[in-house]
Amino acid sequence: MDDIPHAVVTGASSGIGAAIVERLLRDGWRVTGVSRRPGPAAHPAYHHLALDLSDIDAIADTLAGIAPAALVHAAGVLKVGRLGELDHDDGAAMWRLHVDVAERLANLFAPRLPQGGRIVFIGSRTASGAPGRGQYAATKAALVAMARSWAAELAPRGITVNVVAPGWFDSPLVARWKDHPELGQGVLAHTALGRWGAPADLVGAYEFLASDASAFVTGTVFTVDGGYLLV
Ligand SMILES: NC(=O)c1ccc[n+]([C@@H]2O[C@H](COP(=O)([O-])OP(=O)(O)OC[C@H]3O[C@@H](n4cnc5c(N)ncnc54)[C@H](OP(=O)(O)O)[C@@H]3O)[C@@H](O)[C@H]2O)c1
Repeated sequence: MDDIPHAVVTGASSGIGAAIVERLLRDGWRVTGVSRRPGPAAHPAYHHLALDLSDIDAIADTLAGIAPAALVHAAGVLKVGRLGELDHDDGAAMWRLHVDVAERLANLFAPRLPQGGRIVFIGSRTASGAPGRGQYAATKAALVAMARSWAAELAPRGITVNVVAPGWFDSPLVARWKDHPELGQGVLAHTALGRWGAPADLVGAYEFLASDASAFVTGTVFTVDGGYLLV
């Protein structure tokens, strides 16, 4: 069992995180999934930790003794609001889940990662800003800053730190937009490849970043958006 690489994946119960878990298991990894709800279908190499990551003080204890070769932080929420009507609790909650949790996890696991280990944060192409999503965008931009900083720190050990930035992916996170007659059509109209991404579409990028083929790729943002806003 010790020769089998081990990954910790947050957001394992749904969407992109669940798709990454399934691919890792298919590729022969052992996976510890973290989310409040259960993870994907039972698999002998899958272990689930039910945890509300917003309880950041519980993270170190819950993950004590775990020393993965790879960390994926995919857990996230999307709260929207425009200036003049911002909900500061929403902003704080997103900062906690996206940024504080990434910081805690990286800090916890960095000393335990092996030579050639991998850290991937799921960011967003929205990190550069979008109306109504300033609070969300700020948290995803912070992930880029942290990834680039820690890529430099961990480079001497061959550990890479990267961000995968999805465009519009069909998951519960954005279901309200997909089902919206104008907004949903707008995504289709402005995505060069003419469709919403499926969580599985993101997995190839992650699989590359988890593999030996990406050993020279660190501190980058890998955008996977079907050519959003090219058309
Ligand atoms: N879908 C898109 O179009 C899109 C675009 C850009 C970026 N992203 C990013 O991609 C990541 C995954 O999103 P998704 O589309 O896969 O969304 P999703 O299907 O809604 O999944 C979100 C995941 O986050 C977990 N999570 C949320 N709050 C949590 C908490 N307090 N504690 C523990 N786990 C928590 C959820 O698990 P539980 O509810 O079971 O706890 C779930 O597994 C997010 O970081 C999101 O910002 C998505």
